[in-house]
Amino acid sequence: MFEIKAKDMRGRVGVLKTKHGNVKTPALMPVIHPRKQAIDVKKYGADIVITNAYLIYKDEDLKQKAIEEGLHKLINFDGPVMTDSGSFQLSVYGDVDITNKEVIEYQELIGTDIGTSLDIPTAPFVEREKAEEDLKITLERAKEAVEFKKENNIEMLLNSVVQGSTFMDLRQKCASELSKLDADLYPIGAVVPLMESYHYKELVDVVMNSMMYLPENTARHLMGAGHPMIFALAVAMGCDLFDSAAYILYAEDDRLLSTRGTFKLENLQEMPCSCEVCSKYTPDDLRAMPKKQRRDLIAQHNLHVSFAELRLIRQAIYEGSLMELVEERCRAHPALLDAVRQLSNYSDDFEKYDPRSKKSAFFYTGAESLSRSEVLRHQQKMMEMPKKRDLVVLPPSRKPYSKFISGKLGEFYVYGNKGEFDGENTDFMVLDVPFGLIPLEVDELYPLSQSATPKIRDKDSLEFINQFFSEFIEDYNQVLVHSRLKDTLDIELSDKFEDEEIRYKKDDVRKLKAIADYQFGWGAGESLLKGNINVEKSKKTGKIRHIYDGKTLIVNMRASDSYLVLSKEGAKRLHGACEYPKNRVVVNKDSEPFALDGKSVFSKFVVECDENIRANDEVLIVNEDDKLLAFGKSLLSAVEIEDFQTGQAIKTRKGFKK
Ligand code: GUN
Ligand code: ZN
Repeated sequence: MFEIKAKDMRGRVGVLKTKHGNVKTPALMPVIHPRKQAIDVKKYGADIVITNAYLIYKDEDLKQKAIEEGLHKLINFDGPVMTDSGSFQLSVYGDVDITNKEVIEYQELIGTDIGTSLDIPTAPFVEREKAEEDLKITLERAKEAVEFKKENNIEMLLNSVVQGSTFMDLRQKCASELSKLDADLYPIGAVVPLMESYHYKELVDVVMNSMMYLPENTARHLMGAGHPMIFALAVAMGCDLFDSAAYILYAEDDRLLSTRGTFKLENLQEMPCSCEVCSKYTPDDLRAMPKKQRRDLIAQHNLHVSFAELRLIRQAIYEGSLMELVEERCRAHPALLDAVRQLSNYSDDFEKYDPRSKKSAFFYTGAESLSRSEVLRHQQKMMEMPKKRDLVVLPPSRKPYSKFISGKLGEFYVYGNKGEFDGENTDFMVLDVPFGLIPLEVDELYPLSQSATPKIRDKDSLEFINQFFSEFIEDYNQVLVHSRLKDTLDIELSDKFEDEEIRYKKDDVRKLKAIADYQFGWGAGESLLKGNINVEKSKKTGKIRHIYDGKTLIVNMRASDSYLVLSKEGAKRLHGACEYPKNRVVVNKDSEPFALDGKSVFSKFVVECDENIRANDEVLIVNEDDKLLAFGKSLLSAVEIEDFQTGQAIKTRKGFKK
């Protein structure tokens, strides 16, 4: 039903399959009013729409017409249609004239592609008792709907809505219970009041505490979210679908949507974008128009900016710049800035989803960037790293640092016990924002060099790297700090280090071993790079390209991110060097011949995998007896590989068929 095509953070570009066609996600479903629809939303970019089955059911004419002609004909849309169940009416009027079973049955009868059970949207900040009571009913009804679907062989896809108000444990419980039901899609409900009241920080908590307990292999819909201002944030948290009544409701009210907020027509001197409407008319033109004509034009603008934003978001996912977009969008309002700051409480979760390497560079856009997965991941690696006796700390230069640092390094101060300088027994690292410390050997790896930070450092980031520094240096005997860092580091430095010159000697093999250790685990470098190592470099750039033992290729170095790409020999060596299941994806018996043949591995054949695998990692493909079958590049994270039953998990490079 749902496949991932590209990913960034928790965001995914995916394909949702329905019997009326496939939908590229993240997608926006404009709300179609079954009686009052004035705008042809397909013309403005809608591939899927949502309408309300209860409103149709309650209207005798529409009810019969939908049964006779089908829903698609009724609303004049031949693509996929989702229907809501009357839950919204329930939450407004306190009651509806339909049972859960009836509404499921009716949705199937009229040919809905994706139907919804009659969940209870519990408002935010209610009494706990109320939230618990409502949740019990929501869960019972979701279960009833799934069972009803199974018993009657219903083809219609089914939404099971996550509720639980603003009680995080209830959201978690609801999401876990619903996951067990094996529903087709998981909307997150009752968030409209949070968005309308600018409680974006609470929105983050509600969405994350639902999301973390939902399966990866289904689409998630942020119900009632139709303002383009929050799309990027919601997608980064893992939302795949949005629905918008906002485009028409705001238009009725003479309000224009934008990613920077909402404009009232009465205040506009200039039209806010470059869509057809904004290019053709001035605010005065619009103000002078009859109400209906004006409403339809504003709705057209509203749809345009919403679809444009989703295109931009999907592009950002393809290139790996989704968080840059989120950080930019969330500067449109202080409450949104709260939301992006609140994301930092979920950094450990996001790290599990974020690809290891991306097409676009990491841009530091402010203190919020310090909580990003890339920073957390690097610092975690550093804390696990075996340390040499001493540490030399260097100031940042141009990147890659190692290209511009060599020979005599200048004046140093001592921190800790004073001793001799021994180049062999010393780690050389650059102190920089935001990653903290970067060993010179691995500095070309993504994103350490593929990143940019403003030259004027902010206080938060300096405090951040100081904090990391003081924890990291604990086990060193002697720390030598370059004189240019005296003002950056707030530690007590003693005398100048006077013994002798401190030099950094470049060494390709030492560098390659360090990269292998960083990439595959500490100790991997020694096994991977044994023998008579020859390094072949690019004549043009001087960068390492191929690494041989004698004449046998072991690994290539990828130019874009400097990660090592295995050869057959490299895969064998790595397999011998690290213990099961490290760096491994384990496939079942059935898929063994395909793997040996070099065919790509599909998620459903994977029985186990190293929990540290992230998209774009080099991985070994083995059977359950740990026999090496093939090797390749992971397209997903471990958590996703485990959940998916469709689609590719590993792009195989080569199989070991004789
Ligand atoms: N539309 C907006 N919020 C909700 C919700 O919580 N449940 C349903 N079924 N529809 C909604
Ligand atoms: Zn416009």
